[in-house]
Amino acid sequence: MSADQKPILDLRNLSKTFGDMKALTDVNLAVQPGEFVTVVGPSGCGKSTLFNIVAGLEEPDTGATVRFEDRSVMAKDLLGRVSFMPQRDLLLAWRNVIDNAILPLEMEGANRAEARKEAARMLPEFGLSGFDGKYPHELSGGMRQRVALMRTFMFKRDLMLLDEPFGALDALTRTMMQRWLLDVWQKHKRTVLFITHDVDEAIFLGDRVLVMSARPGTIKLERRIELERPRGGNVVTAPEFIALKRELLEAIEEESMKTFGPVG
Ligand SMILES: Nc1ncnc2c1ncn2[C@@H]1O[C@H](COP(=O)(O)OP(=O)(O)OP(=O)(O)O)[C@@H](O)[C@H]1O
Ligand SMILES: [Mg+2]
Repeated sequence: MSADQKPILDLRNLSKTFGDMKALTDVNLAVQPGEFVTVVGPSGCGKSTLFNIVAGLEEPDTGATVRFEDRSVMAKDLLGRVSFMPQRDLLLAWRNVIDNAILPLEMEGANRAEARKEAARMLPEFGLSGFDGKYPHELSGGMRQRVALMRTFMFKRDLMLLDEPFGALDALTRTMMQRWLLDVWQKHKRTVLFITHDVDEAIFLGDRVLVMSARPGTIKLERRIELERPRGGNVVTAPEFIALKRELLEAIEEESMKTFGPVG
């Protein structure tokens, strides 16, 4: 990744107000092609709102500049141009695993039989072998999340937004999915923006981690993660990892206190 490369996504002076409530203020962020950027911050600080804008579901307040692939765009122009896994899994109750996974492809007009075949091939990688015909109510929370993740992967776009994709997974599955995600990301060289509330996860995965402030959210702190790749499980005991974790936790805690205030 060279510094003179053009960012795939470039946000300037981005704010978002809902009624009289300011959710985001003055967000400035440039993401390089192939970069893996993780985002942490207190609950309610506007992380999902930021993703909804980049996914084309919400417009920012006037005055913001959004550039995508070196073109100035409206947020709505990004709809369908990025792959997005929202925080809630949004599986359709009446569709089985395979048909949920191929939904965005189907909406694009892809060949349904081929999309189903591709989805079936991907099941083992997502730990869903044998579950092709199951419906969401027959799945665990973690499995539903993996179906949603698989759907996001099948909708192949250069920029992928993942909003707490591993939130409902147990620690072991989570670790497996993190390693798997890094493998896939390294193989396919997609650009990832990844929200998590888990600082270890943010450091383990990212090239760069952003800490957002309490609402109205803005980028309060930004750190490059220089840990060598591929990263193994023991990276969490490296002194650089621990030092970075301490710094990030302090920053998040300071912001969370603003949201919740002291107890008692
Ligand atoms: N469509 C909407 N209409 C009105 N208010 C909204 C809307 N979407 C989000 N908000 C408000 O914007 C603020 C930020 O919400 P958002 O979901 O972006 O937070 P978050 O950082 O993702 O939180 P969490 O970590 O809990 O998921 C909240 O106060 C929320 O109530
Ligand atoms: Mg959220």
